Amino acid sequence: MFAPAHDSAERSRITKRAYAGATEFLERLRAVGMASKAGQRLLEVGCGSGVHTVAAAKAFDGIEVVAVEPDFGFFAEAKKRLRSFSNASVQVGHAENLRFADQTFDAYYARLVYQHCTAPLKALAEARRVLRPDGWCMIDDIDRGWFMSWPEPEPVRELWGHVEAAQAGAGGDPFVGRKLHSWLRASGFAKVRVDVRGVSTDGVGIAEFASCVGESLLDMLPAADRNAGRAVLAEWAAQAAADPSAHRLYVGWFMATASPGEV
Ligand SMILES: C[S@@+](CC[C@H](N)C(=O)[O-])C[C@H]1O[C@@H](n2cnc3c(N)ncnc32)[C@H](O)[C@@H]1O
Repeated sequence: MFAPAHDSAERSRITKRAYAGATEFLERLRAVGMASKAGQRLLEVGCGSGVHTVAAAKAFDGIEVVAVEPDFGFFAEAKKRLRSFSNASVQVGHAENLRFADQTFDAYYARLVYQHCTAPLKALAEARRVLRPDGWCMIDDIDRGWFMSWPEPEPVRELWGHVEAAQAGAGGDPFVGRKLHSWLRASGFAKVRVDVRGVSTDGVGIAEFASCVGESLLDMLPAADRNAGRAVLAEWAAQAAADPSAHRLYVGWFMATASPGEV
């Protein structure tokens, strides 16, 4: 099975971005009935450094939060972040092979994980198996088809193509967002809703995007190609700095919420 290994710079970038989604994640948990009730259990798969795991453990201190992460560097960071929470724990593992008994969780969360899963339907079958019949599966991810910029310089367009090919070559799927609804239905979730939101660089600018999200995308390329990709992003950031009002990037953020229960 694919075993991701992010260096510490990439882990820092991913952690920095994780904070952006924490408040909304808690609201979504409340909406599906998470309420600090004793006995309630949440599973987070691919937790990274544990930012969302901690947010849930803090906000719902009566529940048990369990996280799973395959990357040893991230696992160590999550373990450290969780150490003062008696209601949270993390273990090494993959979404495709969960070591938990059937029907033992009320909610399941995976953020930016399914685009990296080599066997996403197997991972969803595992999610379905460990969830209680009235439990909720929440998956957030992107889709590179909804990744558009204007203007889009030719070298930038080519770079996205290389990143997509590299991710697919590693067994991932850059177009996962559009597939979530049908995959969830095929995996035994009767109630499925996928909301999509457009996120833009209006708040952060192309230069910040290039140094944070852009670097993470380059991380998927073979090491020998990363400097060339970095030069493309630097040139784009320079063009955007010279004419900030003209350069924009828009990304689609897919949020799936699904339950095995009948509609
Ligand atoms: C972009 S990071 C997102 C981390 C965290 N969920 C967040 O939103 O900050 C992708 C995460 O998925 C994990 N991952 C990759 N393949 C996985 C798999 N097959 N099962 C579980 N986690 C996986 C990576 O190790 C990494 O922690």
